[in-house]
Amino acid sequence: MSVQLLDGKSIAADIRAVIKGRVDALRSAGGRSPGLAVILVGENPASQVYVRNKRSACAEVGFYSEMHELPATTSQFELVDLIDRLNADDRIDGILMQLPLPDRIDEAAVTERILPTKDVDGFHPYNIGRLALRMPLLRPCTPKGVMTMLARTGQPLAGLDAVVIGQSNIVGRPMALELLAARCTVTICHSRTRDLAEKARGADLLVAAVGRAHFVPGDWVKQGAILIDVGINRGADGKLVGDMDFAACSGRASWITPVPGGVGPMTIASLLENTLQAAELHANMTAMEASGNPGV
Ligand code: GUN
Repeated sequence: MSVQLLDGKSIAADIRAVIKGRVDALRSAGGRSPGLAVILVGENPASQVYVRNKRSACAEVGFYSEMHELPATTSQFELVDLIDRLNADDRIDGILMQLPLPDRIDEAAVTERILPTKDVDGFHPYNIGRLALRMPLLRPCTPKGVMTMLARTGQPLAGLDAVVIGQSNIVGRPMALELLAARCTVTICHSRTRDLAEKARGADLLVAAVGRAHFVPGDWVKQGAILIDVGINRGADGKLVGDMDFAACSGRASWITPVPGGVGPMTIASLLENTLQAAELHANMTAMEASGNPGV
């Protein structure tokens, strides 16, 4: 059986087209465009590129977006003050604070300051908790994008042995929660995992989110496995490569994501979906308040 490519670039383009249609319909009905505030603290070059790509995707689908670029010397107090203002701003449905933040700032504390209904990254403990309890609201973008791609394979996920390499709050942990909710049997591997190769070889579905070029060699891959490569690394020649040795791994896989053009564009597509979802939530909350119904 030959390997099939999970083309994130084209799936993401489909999603953007659907979202643009929804925004056009909202505007034609007299509504406003969903609004996203992007916060970038400091001058991390990779973060600057990610943020630029996220804002240009917003522009493409007709979202309002505003950029808050703060110097690396910004205090936690100043950052919290900005978040409070954006939480109270009716023009803003989603707040995206690009990570990592400078070391002096307590990332968990400021993440928690964002209103859960404006947390379009899905990183707030409320949203992670809801995902853990199988009652998701705003879901972390990269794992959500992976689930969208997996749905496109048409392969049933229930009962698969899924192995996630990487335990970050942004990808590995929420990815495992998503796969558990899809009824996979999930193993999370990390730097202290014993016999990683053996665990990877048992995977029907293998997700690599390590951040090291070519970390997964071909002989870690079970014949017919579905391979999801979340890594975006610069190879020795300066080109972008994933966490998997694509040439070697694709020889054994049934499905594989390329890098670039795999998971990366899906993260941004999920951010757009979440921002639209947050805008719908806020419209419902406003309508309920106007009708005197306090909601739940
Ligand atoms: N840094 C790396 N990935 C992400 C992401 O998905 N969202 C945010 N806010 N920061 C990141």
